[in-house]
Amino acid sequence: MQDELKNLADLYYTRVIEPSAGININWIRRTMLQLGIKDESIDNLYMINAPMSREVWYYAFVKAFEEKKLADFLNMLVDTIGSLPLGNLESSLDALGIYYDGKYHAKVFNIAVLVSGRGTNLQALIDAIDEGKINGRIVAVISNRKNAKALVRAEKHGIERFYVPAKKGESRESYDKKLAKIIDVKKVNLIVLAGFLRILSPWFVERYKNKIINIHPSLLPAFAGLYGDEVHRAVLEYGCKVTGCTVHYVDSEPDHGPVLIQKCVPVNDDDTVQKLAMRVLEKEHECLVEAAKMIAEGRVEVRGRKVILKK
Ligand code: GRF
Repeated sequence: MQDELKNLADLYYTRVIEPSAGININWIRRTMLQLGIKDESIDNLYMINAPMSREVWYYAFVKAFEEKKLADFLNMLVDTIGSLPLGNLESSLDALGIYYDGKYHAKVFNIAVLVSGRGTNLQALIDAIDEGKINGRIVAVISNRKNAKALVRAEKHGIERFYVPAKKGESRESYDKKLAKIIDVKKVNLIVLAGFLRILSPWFVERYKNKIINIHPSLLPAFAGLYGDEVHRAVLEYGCKVTGCTVHYVDSEPDHGPVLIQKCVPVNDDDTVQKLAMRVLEKEHECLVEAAKMIAEGRVEVRGRKVILKK
């Protein structure tokens, strides 16, 4: 990421800034002010009427990127200079989360969360997005149960919610096509199963290959196929000393796809199902937020069963 940023800043400097007389410290300062980026260093340089230099340009470029305003910054550059003779920059811009279609735009990472119950994992995602930890937004919360508390959470946060009931005797695929309709209209980049109590059809899983993740409250492959308290009861009955949770990609077998993140939770001698469930749940929230964050940042690569998390 840092390399992409530096290369791109360099390219703009050599091809656009250097040959043009229009970009000086005054321009940088004005632009940053207009974008709402407060910056003392630039103010100071402006005060002493410092000349424009490669270093100043880098500084402003990186600052705009860090403040998630690089697309706007570049649009202002186009407004001042006219079209930019830069050739094909698509992949470099893409790596920085920007696309160009005559204007620069920040790409938005759209998440759909599928739920059936209380929605504490959904809440963890909502909070992480609000706190700026995940660069994305939840565009749909979909539930197969009308009274799922998760739907209330979505409503409270102004997130669009959908109740999609299954008809009696309806096939998995027919049901999943209703989900797909919403997911496609909402241009979803990532589907998160957060306590969604339905098995997805092979049709759905294939259509959104490597775009669906699930959170499971055990260290998979141990205790796969169980749900909620059943998992923790089985862990205690087995006498495990350690348990945990897993975020994994979804394939056509339940609780089976490539593992993204796992976190351990020690089992205590005096644990009850409830006590253990609570401690695992805390780790689930951390895991899910980390996974969504990494995916949104394009730092995850799936190679067969192996998932590579890039620094
Ligand atoms: C979690 O324990 C998750 O691991 C499992 O379903 C539960 C959902 O909890 N898949 P919540 O609805 O997110 O609170």
